[in-house]
Parts: sequence; C-alpha cells; structure tokens
Amino acid sequence: MKNKNISLKPYNSFGLEVFSNNFYRASTETDILKLLNKFSNFDPYILGGGSNILFKNNIDKPIIKIEIKGIEIEKEIDDEIYISVGAGENWSNFVDWCVKKKYGGIENLSLIPGNVGSAPIQNIGAYGVELESVFYSCKAISIKKKKIKIFSKKDCQFSYRNSIFKEKLKNKYIITNVIFKLTKVNHKLNISYKPLKELIEKENISKPTIKNISNFIKKIRQTKLPDPKLIGNCGSFFKNPIVSKKMFKSLILKYSSMPSFNISDNEFKIPAAWLIEKSGFKGVDEGETGTYKKHALVIINHGKATGTEIYNFSQKIKKSVLKKFNILLEEEVNIFE
Ligand code: EPU
Repeated sequence: MKNKNISLKPYNSFGLEVFSNNFYRASTETDILKLLNKFSNFDPYILGGGSNILFKNNIDKPIIKIEIKGIEIEKEIDDEIYISVGAGENWSNFVDWCVKKKYGGIENLSLIPGNVGSAPIQNIGAYGVELESVFYSCKAISIKKKKIKIFSKKDCQFSYRNSIFKEKLKNKYIITNVIFKLTKVNHKLNISYKPLKELIEKENISKPTIKNISNFIKKIRQTKLPDPKLIGNCGSFFKNPIVSKKMFKSLILKYSSMPSFNISDNEFKIPAAWLIEKSGFKGVDEGETGTYKKHALVIINHGKATGTEIYNFSQKIKKSVLKKFNILLEEEVNIFE
C-alpha cells in the first residue's frame, strides 16, 4: 500500500528530515513482484537500512523499503554452515546471532550499521574482513524483467567497497535474501588489524574466541566512530584512495609519516582520514555539519543539517584534499540528488 507524506528521518542514519509521498513497504518477495507488476516503467529507489545514503532533497521517486525478515540454516557440511538471511534483517543483529551460536566468519563485522541486503552491494568491510569472504550467494529480483535470479559469489564481482550491484547492475536488481557460508568449529580468526591485535595482547588472551573478537571490535568501533543513534552519520564518507607506486613514492618523500597499505605491485591505499586530517578538516564544524572529532573520515549531522549542507561541506573537503595532495576522493556514501 502506498504511504504519503512519510518522513524518512528514522530511515536514514544521517537523520535527515526529508519526505516521500510515494513510499511502499515490502516484507516478502511477492510484495515486491506485485509492486513491479502494478506499475509500468517502475523505477523505484530501494531503501535498506539507510546507513549509506545522503538524501539531498525530498524524494519524488517511489521508495520501496525492504523489510524481508528471517534467519534460517540452509545446510551443514562438516565444518561449514550455510545460513540464509532475509534482506531486511539488521546486519549487526545477525552478527550477534552468529556470535551467540558460535558460527565464525563475520565477528570482525560486528556493529556495522545497515541491513543484510545492502551488505553485498558495497561489499561491507572492517578490521581486515570483507563480506565477500563469507558470501555464498544472493537472491535478487530484476526490476525490469520482474524475475528472481540467483547470484553466485563470482557473479557479484566483489572488490573494495564495490560489486556488480554498484556498477553494471546499479539500480537494476532488488536483493531479497543472502546466503552466508560460515564455520562451526575451525574458525579462521582475523586479527591482522593492529588495534585489534594490540587489544588482544593487552587483555592477555592467548586463544581468542569469536565472542572475544566481536566484543573487542565493538569496543574499537565505539571509541572511534559515532553511534548513528546519537549523532547522525554514515560511517566513512569517502573511500580510501588507491594510488600508483609513483604517486606513493612522491608523497612519502614529502610526508614520511603518511600511513599506507601496499595492496599490489603497483598500488597503495592511503587512508582518506589522514588526507582529510592533514588538509585541516578533523573535528571541524560548519553550521549544522562537520567532521567527527575522533575520525576525520566521518561527516556528521549535529541535528538540523540538510542533505545539501552536508553535501556542500563534503565537496569542500574533496577540493581541499585535491589541492593539497592532487588526489581526488571518491564518495563511499551514495548521494541521492
Ligand atoms: N587516521 C587519521 N586521522 C583520523 C583517523 C584515522 O589520520 O582522524 C589514519 C590513521 O593512521 C589510521 C588510518 O587513518 O591508521 C586508518 O584509519 P581506520 O583504521 O580508522 O580505518 P579507515 O581506513 O579510516 C576503514 C573503513 C571503515 C572500517 C575501518 C576499519 C573505508 C572507507 N573505511 O576506515 O569502514 O571500519 O577501515 O577496518 O574503507 C565504513 O565503511 O563506513 C567504515 C566505517
């Protein structure tokens, strides 16, 4: 059923007060198919957890909010467990459910805001783990063909904060369900992220469990990143840029303390947070918006910011980084014009 004059404030983690006159909720695949069949040339905006979207204005486009629930064990083979999850499940709740059941693989992704269905789109990642490492397949409905298709891991073409759903198939499919492949006993813990390693050593834990890791990750996140329930934000606003070896060499000559990650023979990833901080934008307020005082990559809403205000501020940061470092930052957050 169509809902009018709906405030999207509770549905976007920036906490922006924008309105929709064309708002639908879907709690089953049938709900989605019915909507697609009802309108010809239907071009909806698909809303998941709203944790990676900047709405600049009120939305004229129809919005479908995906509320498909359910967590089910599909199959178990030796140490592997396949879990099928509705796209509308909250990601962090799902991680907690797995940790409680002692299923391993996603404990490093604890407390990431957003829904399960959005996770493959941008291949969510944190603290040394990316979604693709536990992804088995997903089910999605083609908006044009109104048909269900299964996407294997290979089909999704995952890369850093990216997948086919952000590229060739952008806005073409609605993910309804995801199957994850986790471990039951022989967990492959990832403690490569330095602050995590340090915390484990500090606490003197010789054999960390997935519960330990999940708790530490929560601790790290809570000290570095603002809770969107208290301060409007979308996590990292920009991606960490990848530069050539040549560019890296010239930068490191000038800035010897610049953090970096060598990701291939000729490529280095530079933390956007460092570039932004060095451009003078850490903990800087501009009206109702600003950058978080503990993390320069997080743009925040002090309460009354508009989407346009946040966007303009982000572009100011982008310009300053470009001027100082000759590096063009790319938004990680989706911008809705
Ligand atoms: N740093 C600064 N200034 C700051 C913050 C960080 O210079 O204000 C430098 C530090 O040297 C630090 C480095 O930047 O070592 C990296 O910082 P951090 O470990 O916090 O990670 P990040 O690269 O900024 C990425 C993800 C985060 C994820 C963390 C942890 C992207 C765009 N962001 O951030 O993901 O939680 O790693 O794995 O890849 C998100 O996607 O919304 C998100 C929060």
